Amino acid sequence: MKEIITELISAEAIEKRVEEIAADITEYYKGEELTTICVLKGAVMFMVDLVKHIDLPVKFDFMDVSSYGNATESSGNIRINKDLENSIEGQNVLIVEDIIDSGGTLFQLLKYLGSKKPKSLKICTLFDKPERRKYDIDVTWRGFEIPDEFIVGYGLDYAQKYRNLPYIGALKFEK
Ligand code: IMP
Ligand code: MG
Repeated sequence: MKEIITELISAEAIEKRVEEIAADITEYYKGEELTTICVLKGAVMFMVDLVKHIDLPVKFDFMDVSSYGNATESSGNIRINKDLENSIEGQNVLIVEDIIDSGGTLFQLLKYLGSKKPKSLKICTLFDKPERRKYDIDVTWRGFEIPDEFIVGYGLDYAQKYRNLPYIGALKFEK
């Protein structure tokens, strides 16, 4: 089957929105320090672009988690492939995620990180598919709401491909 990609969100639109979110985050945490946690690998592009525009002392760390279950439905159980390197106790922690689908991954991650006693714990996601939500989670910053379509680019993959596209495309299959 042939993979067809149609541009949905341009690189310029992403850049503009990322700068807006960074400005909001700067304002919100004014006078404080921030630790951003990038959820690998999808959120890499977003996190590096975001932190460049956050005008606060920022530390970053990375986590890699995978959800059990099949490829398209998240079961809400996660396996930690790569854990934090530093303690987050007493810190303002911002989880930086690429996309929220069922919410299962973040639901588990919030429980896990919450148990490490951060001063605050919030979520910033670039994309959100609210129609697919199964877990009730509180999202403070959200870049774009998208319809129930499979998207790739700007860090997001299909079978590990297309992460390097500078824009967001919808993926369709053709025989
Ligand atoms: P959730 O646990 O169901 O919320 O799944 C979230 C994870 O599934 C994201 O962090 C992505 O890795 C992946 N995912 C969900 N939707 C898409 C998509 O449209 N394109 C690429 N990856 C996606
Ligand atoms: Mg992800």
